[in-house]
Amino acid sequence: MIGMADAKPQISSGLEGVYIAESSICRVDGQAGGLYYRGYSIDSLCKNSDYEEVVHLLLHGRLPKAQELAETKKVLAESRNLPEGVVSTIKHMNGKAHPMDTVRTAVSMLSAYDPEVADSSNEANMRKSLRIISRTASIVATIGRIAAGGEYVAPDNSMSHSENFLYMLNGKKPTPQQLDIMRDMFIIHAEHSSNASTFGTMVAGSTLADIYSAVTAGIAVLKGPLHGGADEAALHMMNEIGDPDNTEVYITEALAGKKKIMGFGHRVYKAYDPRAKVIKTYLLQMQDSSSEEVKRLTGIALRAEKLMIDKLGQSHGIWPNVDFFAGPVYRAAGIPAEIFTPIFAASRTAGWCAHMMEYWENNRLFRPLEYYTGAIDLQYVPIDKR
Ligand SMILES: CC(C)(COP(=O)(O)OP(=O)(O)OC[C@H]1O[C@@H](n2cnc3c(N)ncnc32)[C@H](O)[C@@H]1OP(=O)(O)O)[C@@H](O)C(=O)NCCC(=O)NCCS
Repeated sequence: MIGMADAKPQISSGLEGVYIAESSICRVDGQAGGLYYRGYSIDSLCKNSDYEEVVHLLLHGRLPKAQELAETKKVLAESRNLPEGVVSTIKHMNGKAHPMDTVRTAVSMLSAYDPEVADSSNEANMRKSLRIISRTASIVATIGRIAAGGEYVAPDNSMSHSENFLYMLNGKKPTPQQLDIMRDMFIIHAEHSSNASTFGTMVAGSTLADIYSAVTAGIAVLKGPLHGGADEAALHMMNEIGDPDNTEVYITEALAGKKKIMGFGHRVYKAYDPRAKVIKTYLLQMQDSSSEEVKRLTGIALRAEKLMIDKLGQSHGIWPNVDFFAGPVYRAAGIPAEIFTPIFAASRTAGWCAHMMEYWENNRLFRPLEYYTGAIDLQYVPIDKR
């Protein structure tokens, strides 16, 4: 029996150090700063691949042959169009809810339009995964589009996932640099082992709830500023700093006040986050950007990076994480801050679905314990005597 009478068990706060499953999807090397999807480093995937191929890799466990890749691309492209009901819900929530709340609602709503929602076979889950991955990107683009005062842009099936995303968001084709940024951002956010949102997805799915419920739970968990929301929070911080010359004073005062600097630190990485390294290559190209905003943000980000590494890098293992440089780079691609975390969600649907299907192969309900520290056997007091 668990309770006050029992000896206090070892509690792993935040589940730190607890292994919940075996998995062959993703290796995060926190000490060396490495990230591998199904054995391939994200550097090699960013150099050689595209998001659709990464989706296939994550879901099926191996790189596709040409015919398989063509099929995956076709299904993803043909699933892009959103049901009218979902578009009108996005319009209804516009201006009233944070875009992450709208993504969570709209993705949950997609289940109403999927005739296979209750089919839990692996084949059906594979098909549903592709529809979720494809349509979540359309949902996010449409949220951004409608927030900017535009109308729903019907997808263009001849475009890649990344190009179509920017097309549905902005109503025009992206520049080559914007497309490269978007492709890399989709790739580096696609998967990250059993972090909070993936675990949230798996907890929901472990009850044998369907894959839409599981992914919706993942989106809910991703929202917070300690997880996916850090990218938007980091950009707000850079805007608060205002000018590159203010960076040192701001960071020094924030650290003295025990404030956390968003976009730094990680539960697993005690080295430079390899995803931040990929994003930094764009930042270095943007130092002389013709956009005043991008130039200013880039200046602040590079100075903050150096200061934080000097103060907390080697000494405390607190390095820039994926969310730190995302802001300036997304702004260069014309993406508003409110949809940074939704983009993370759209990309991560691939990892969530891969984990869910893998876990279902040997499913066991998640049910951890709490050490009870409250009272027991109290005498019930009638309401007029309290
Ligand atoms: C990601 C995060 C939650 C992981 O942290 P964790 O393993 O739970 O570690 P803790 O929050 O307990 O931090 C451990 C110590 O490092 C410090 N620290 C961690 N991240 C810090 C940051 N970004 N800025 C300043 N100090 C930080 C904490 O203040 C704490 O110091 P203390 O021991 O003196 O109290 C944490 O680093 C954080 O809050 N980062 C900012 C949010 C963020 O960027 N999240 C995105 C992650 S991809």
